[in-house]
Amino acid sequence: MNNAPIGVFDSGMGGLSVWREIRKRLPHESLIYFGDGLHCPYGEKPAAEVVGYIDEAIRTLIAHDCKLIVLACNTATMTAVKYLRATYPLPFVGMEPAVKPAAATTETGTIGVLATRASLGSDWFGELSGRYAAGVRVVTAVGEGFVEAVEADEEHTPATRRLVERAVAPLLAAGADRIVLGCTHYPFLADVIEEVIANPSVQLIDPAPAIARRVEWLLSQDGRLAEPTHVPELLFLSAAGAEYAEKLRRRATAL
Ligand code: DGL
Repeated sequence: MNNAPIGVFDSGMGGLSVWREIRKRLPHESLIYFGDGLHCPYGEKPAAEVVGYIDEAIRTLIAHDCKLIVLACNTATMTAVKYLRATYPLPFVGMEPAVKPAAATTETGTIGVLATRASLGSDWFGELSGRYAAGVRVVTAVGEGFVEAVEADEEHTPATRRLVERAVAPLLAAGADRIVLGCTHYPFLADVIEEVIANPSVQLIDPAPAIARRVEWLLSQDGRLAEPTHVPELLFLSAAGAEYAEKLRRRATAL
């Protein structure tokens, strides 16, 4: 048993969609959420720049004695997880767009993937589609403005709905019946996306519950889950300062 905290990292607030699933599944674990906030969105920045921001955040989480770190950010995983695993001795759980379950369950033979420009442009994404979606058509779209809308708490404005309509239209036109939410900010727009799709046979796929199961499995393998009597501490940190960290805490508490 090990009561040290689990670190959860994202460029901003999106990783709270993963934090929520970890809280549900592992209610006795202490969690330290680090939302950069200062350099978000990562998806529009060059990889070399973003790796520096991620590295700094990860050092902070390690200084807080995290026993495992979840990169609750597809963009960060695709750009930095290999470097982080080679550099630091603790386990990292990364995220990638859930192409595999989408391709395995599609009935139309076409899946849609919504993700950031950086994720969709990465070599990793190309390999992922090649490996898991052979024989399935993969149609992609950048969620233009989605991250900014979530960061600004503007999920339910008419302008955001128009952004969602624009991004989803080509996926639906192509006949996709599975739409992968390939960025952790996007689950906060899931209700708007579902409203726009207006078709119950088109399913959204969010990998966050699978990530929480993976964290549980990894910690249980080495006997490093928190004690069942442990009262968890929940801490929120940010490169953008105390006010942003407080926004993270308030948002997380409301989930
Ligand atoms: N939430 C992030 C992801 O999963 C990145 C958003 C961004 O900073 O562009 O990709």
